[in-house]
Amino acid sequence: MNRNRVQIMHGVNLDQIGRRDPEHYGGITFRQLEQAIDGFARDLGLDARFFQSNSEGDFVEHLHRVRDVADGVIINAGAWTHYSRAIGDALQFADVPAVEVHLSDVMAREGWRHVSVLADTCIATVTGKGVDGYREALGTLKAHLTE
Ligand code: DQA
Repeated sequence: MNRNRVQIMHGVNLDQIGRRDPEHYGGITFRQLEQAIDGFARDLGLDARFFQSNSEGDFVEHLHRVRDVADGVIINAGAWTHYSRAIGDALQFADVPAVEVHLSDVMAREGWRHVSVLADTCIATVTGKGVDGYREALGTLKAHLTE
């Protein structure tokens, strides 16, 4: 079976990255980000589908269903990454391989961003590589799915 469906999940405030600090987020708009990810996925023969929400409940509910629509997940949960045990639990029992991505170098920023409650559930984490980090994350996920 061809396992190539990847759910790209963006959390709180990621839809606003075009208005956020360009030093951290590169000045790219959210639409441009999703288009770039779609291109990376196609290059790798992956079928990307996209979900973004600023509502933690909607994000959790999407994780409840994700197994039905995707073989793997790329997750950038924004600030929820650092404290939402609800999202951490949902990702765990979603039971699909996931790679955590952050555009900015979270380890070089404020201390509260150094903690990820998702990392233990993910097969890899990519931070601080901007948009290109998603290419790396998709490559890692593809290698895992084709193992
Ligand atoms: C982010 C990093 C988070 O700390 C922050 O809250 C975000 C974006 C990133 O992609 O660099 O919203 O996940």
